[in-house]
Amino acid sequence: MSRWSNSGLDLHLSLPRGPGRRAALEEALREAVAAGRLRAGERLPSTRALASDLGAARGTVAEAYAQLVAEGWLQARQGSGTVVAPVAVAQPRPERVTVSPAEAARFDLLPGRPDVGSFPRNVWLRALRAGLATAPDEIFQREDALGLAVLREALAAYLARARGVRAEPDSVLICGGFRQGLALLCRALVRSGRGRVALEDPTVPHHRDTAEAAGAEVVDIGVDRDGLQVGAVRRSEVDAVVTTPAHQFPIGVTLAPERRAALLAWARETDGLVIEDDYDGEFRYDRQPVGALQALDPEHAVYAGTASKALAPGLRLAWLVLPPSLLTAVRDEKACDDGSNPVHDQLALAEVIRRHDLDRHLRTVRQRYRRRRDRLLAAIAEHAPGVRVSGIAAGLHAVVELPLPGPSEEEVVAAAAERGIAVAGLGTMHHTAEAGRPALVVGYAAPPEHGYAAAIDALAKLLGELTGR
Ligand SMILES: Cc1ncc(COP(=O)(O)O)c(C=O)c1O
Repeated sequence: MSRWSNSGLDLHLSLPRGPGRRAALEEALREAVAAGRLRAGERLPSTRALASDLGAARGTVAEAYAQLVAEGWLQARQGSGTVVAPVAVAQPRPERVTVSPAEAARFDLLPGRPDVGSFPRNVWLRALRAGLATAPDEIFQREDALGLAVLREALAAYLARARGVRAEPDSVLICGGFRQGLALLCRALVRSGRGRVALEDPTVPHHRDTAEAAGAEVVDIGVDRDGLQVGAVRRSEVDAVVTTPAHQFPIGVTLAPERRAALLAWARETDGLVIEDDYDGEFRYDRQPVGALQALDPEHAVYAGTASKALAPGLRLAWLVLPPSLLTAVRDEKACDDGSNPVHDQLALAEVIRRHDLDRHLRTVRQRYRRRRDRLLAAIAEHAPGVRVSGIAAGLHAVVELPLPGPSEEEVVAAAAERGIAVAGLGTMHHTAEAGRPALVVGYAAPPEHGYAAAIDALAKLLGELTGR
């Protein structure tokens, strides 16, 4: 019979009924110590408490403890009862964890990584406290697959004000990062027989994997200096297209006004869907940000935003603003995936937005990132003047174009790794054969403030050496 002892320590023990209980209790405790379920120093329940939980005589438990003390599994301590002795435990060997290049490197210049050191911990704590203090009890019980109403209200107002998005609280869905949002959208499209989805090429490799895993038939569409090639979208007969119009990831161009108009015309004429990934929307440095595309045709566009860059990717919080035609289908996918996001995170984010703490935080980090970008440009101009940098008007990364003839992308990435610098090659983000000229995608946000200058100088000097200045 399996019983939980709840006398202080939760202890799961399997004991037979009837005779032989003492031996069974001893064996169960030995097994728990040997397997590491009971750790050295952990205090066992009193004999009275454990006997009562197990429905056994107190003497049975006392004898079992005494036997295990004699064998060295347990120790009887004056005044603090019986504790687990420090015996050698046969631990299962943990699986080897592959160390990511960023963890191994001294200088993390990979794209898609904000400065998590500037995550506003105190602001978040204050917001969480305030949100928890005033939240009605029901929110801890009932799950709403769209997300908490307070957060959806705060986001609808914020997105309308800051990004020009046309959003009602009931058209917003909270999800676990853009990645989950993309998966939900693809699954809803596939279910309705509209699963041919275009992705920009180059793009984030794992977004392509996510779309494919969700059952979408992915079509790669090239990008040029005016952004997504909308003519190719038309020819490809897709049902939906995922695009980063504010700042193409990773190339860094903005979707040209004629292309924006042409993309929406395509969506209207074919009843297609534009999925606008506004990843870099909050980080525009040299001029006013371009407003959201979604505002021009909310019936044919989904707006997707995320807290991954504005706050931290570890929050896994993002939002979709959905057209009425997709709302139920995507909500059903979310309900079936994980029900909803954890409520305390949603409460905190709602407060952070409502109190304008997000605006203040963004203003601070935007200035810091702009200074970092300028510092990157200055270091490359000084140490590697033959290298051109582009895509720098927004976002947290730059494209560093390698001169031709010269070392290949792979050679530069490998040489950088040898000096402890983690950078990405643009080629790894291309999916079709035509990969364009060699370049690095350099994220300039991740290193801590005190280590930034050293990281950038190390990269710039290496580029200078490799490209012969
Ligand atoms: C282009 C782009 N969109 C969106 C995201 C955010 O994804 P998530 O919200 O899943 O962290 C990223 C993250 O790297 C990205 O590179």
